[in-house]
Amino acid sequence: MIKRGLNTGVLALAKLCGWIIRKARVGKVLIVEVCGNNSKPYVLALKEDRDRELYAVAEPLDIGSAICFEGELASEQRSKRGIEYVATRIEVYAKPIEHLPVDIAGKVPALLETRIKYRWLLARNPVEKAIFKIRTGVLKAAREYLEKNGFVEVQTPKIVAAGAEGGATLFKVQYFEREAYLSQSPQLYKQMLISSFERVYEITPYFRAEKFNTTRHLNESWGIDIEQGFINGVEDVMQTAENLVSYIVDFVRINYKDELEILGVNLPKLTPPFRRLKFTEAVDILRSEGIEVSEVEDLSDAAEKKLGEIMAEKKHDLYFIVGFPWTSTAFYYMREEDKVYTRKFDFDYKGLEIASGGQREHRYDKLVEALREKGLNPADFEFYLEAFKYGMPPHGGFGLGVERLIMKMLNLENIREAIMFVRDRTRITP
Ligand code: 4AD
Ligand code: MG
Repeated sequence: MIKRGLNTGVLALAKLCGWIIRKARVGKVLIVEVCGNNSKPYVLALKEDRDRELYAVAEPLDIGSAICFEGELASEQRSKRGIEYVATRIEVYAKPIEHLPVDIAGKVPALLETRIKYRWLLARNPVEKAIFKIRTGVLKAAREYLEKNGFVEVQTPKIVAAGAEGGATLFKVQYFEREAYLSQSPQLYKQMLISSFERVYEITPYFRAEKFNTTRHLNESWGIDIEQGFINGVEDVMQTAENLVSYIVDFVRINYKDELEILGVNLPKLTPPFRRLKFTEAVDILRSEGIEVSEVEDLSDAAEKKLGEIMAEKKHDLYFIVGFPWTSTAFYYMREEDKVYTRKFDFDYKGLEIASGGQREHRYDKLVEALREKGLNPADFEFYLEAFKYGMPPHGGFGLGVERLIMKMLNLENIREAIMFVRDRTRITP
């Protein structure tokens, strides 16, 4: 962070800003911890007799004060809690007008309720900050990987006329004279774009009216969505998924060492390819463990978790389940010749689905037939269907849940820990 003077190569003074999270007196020394964007706090040690002026400025400041200081990295780093600086100037920008409602310097509060309510303030704490710094890294890595691999970033509408992921989880909005919905997924639009781009991606919110309070669902979550054309089969798409996730994990391992240490997370390097389980195989494995599973429905949360445990015993933290039955999927997945199974996959990480994807039906007639079979009206999807008339190549893609990925990478217990402002069944503020 120390900036070098223009053309001189000499270390100039750094100006660093943040909030006082802790003050302690050790004999005649005042220790001030300041947290800014850096995950580790800055530490100033001011001696009453030596640094008289600075001491007089800092001594009366309350926890929570917003300050900037100029200084140099201390030649001797003695603090275990942060990075020590020798300050030459302190400027006060704002003082709190009330006591802080949460303890920033201590342990993160045990109550998730408190953490969710005050995350914006608690993010002054290194632990909370580390999670969100890593979140930035995850998205940065995703963009980096996808750009390197020829994907073009796109943005698709979030107010839509038709949903792709089932009517039960659509949020309605009044759009002038007509009813519209908040987008559950960019599914229809990203597929339409495969009529003019070879590969696209979008980093996007998903809005879903999930009525249940679980540790793995949000009503507003984020996804890394990709769609890739000119594929030879679903295998191409699974390779993109496993390489993308491995790239993200590697990026975080290399660039976020401090944050991982603060969180006490050991993030092992991933080595794709990951195991591909046929859906029928997953059913057999679960049944052999005495778990009841249907052959025609999606796996329940409990079955998914159990499968995670069984796979973990075999040293598979990540794996695909591929070939879901048509009765369990959305209309747009390509069906096998038998019409029973599809080319849909789930990508699971430690017993949690982090992504769903697959090869799509790109043949116009078959797509119209699929809509009808799912009880949907092709007329409602006309804008989408039209894109399949003018040379739509075989394609596939997936949606990767950002919070679910972070949750599993960092061993968080609740998905709400991985997003700054939570939208769930009971929360619409802050
Ligand atoms: O599995 P989903 O519903 O699949 C789709 O949206 C497809 N359009 C993807 C595709 O390209 N075929 O959602 C994708 C992922 C899930 O695996 C999950 O990680 C995350 O998005 N996700 C949620 N995360 C938290 N809360 C919710 N309510 C989520 N809904 C989906
Ligand atoms: Mg899914």
